[in-house]
Amino acid sequence: MYKIIKKERLHDTIYSMWIEAPDVASSVQPGQFIILMIQEKGERIPLTVADFDREKGLIRIVFQIVGKTSEELSTLKEGDKLYSFIGPLGKKTEIALYGKVITIGGGTGIACIHTIARALKEVGNEVISIIGARTKDLIIMEEEIKKASSKLIVTTDDGSYGRKGFVTQVLKEILDKDQSIKKVWTIGPAIMMKVTCETTKPYSVETIVSLNSVMVDGTGMCGSCRVTINGETKFVCTDGPEFDGQLVEWSEFANRLTRYQEQEQKSWGIYHKPTHTCRYGKETE
Ligand code: FAD
Ligand code: FES
Ligand code: MG
Repeated sequence: MYKIIKKERLHDTIYSMWIEAPDVASSVQPGQFIILMIQEKGERIPLTVADFDREKGLIRIVFQIVGKTSEELSTLKEGDKLYSFIGPLGKKTEIALYGKVITIGGGTGIACIHTIARALKEVGNEVISIIGARTKDLIIMEEEIKKASSKLIVTTDDGSYGRKGFVTQVLKEILDKDQSIKKVWTIGPAIMMKVTCETTKPYSVETIVSLNSVMVDGTGMCGSCRVTINGETKFVCTDGPEFDGQLVEWSEFANRLTRYQEQEQKSWGIYHKPTHTCRYGKETE
């Protein structure tokens, strides 16, 4: 169980893995996530289900190296096994026939929006996807998102590919021209999701965000992923990860994302000591 069946490097720091997890694949729905552990004494990290194959019992994860555990995960090879892979977790996306909708992915959020866009299109919505990243190399899963959407617009901050600028600029242009947009989903860095919500607010278009709070148990018990939504405390792992973006207290959310930075840097430092070798040794490819 939890064997890595296929591993691909999408960018220097971004990897895709297909994991054998028939228990998760049999019931996962768009918008849900898993929590994995590489080894028994390792930390638990949440990752969104980027794709799934129910027949083969496989789950795809796409992750960026941002610290110790994501880097260690990137060193595993096809055939290696994960210690645990729990899911599906969180509430599923509300897939229904809305009409014309927009799905937005920024950075690794592009992978997270994939199953949502696909499911929305499958039930008959006209799905306009906007995906963006800092530069061309960081645009991932373009073909998959294109297939999952009725129309795809790509942006890069530096103009190296697609439209130059931010996803929110394209969003505003669409909203200015087209009053028939019924709903927007946005997944990416906190600032991108916040600006998306500010952009849609004057147009009164409901905007769903997927929050990536720091999680520990993933079952609503530890309180780590607590956020404030419309003045009420909610847990992203069990009440989310999707919320109405207009109701999120964004400054608290952003502050809580960095509250373990000291420990994270310490753990990164220990992991990079020259004597260290992870369970599977360093990557050779
Ligand atoms: P660290 O050095 O430990 O931390 C770097 C930063 O990552 C921290 O400052 C914090 O903001 C975040 N982080 C650290 N630990 C956790 C944790 N336990 N839970 C959540 N965030 C943490 N990333 C992807 O690349 N792809 C995804 O599909 C994806 N989906 C996610 C879905 C959900 C529901 C959530 C909550 C997070 C998701 N993330 C995703 C973020 C991913 O969990 C973190 O990048 C990862 O945990 C970092 O671990 P690290 O040890 O490598 O980095
Ligand atoms: Fe512990 Fe959500 S991760 S309550
Ligand atoms: Mg960590």
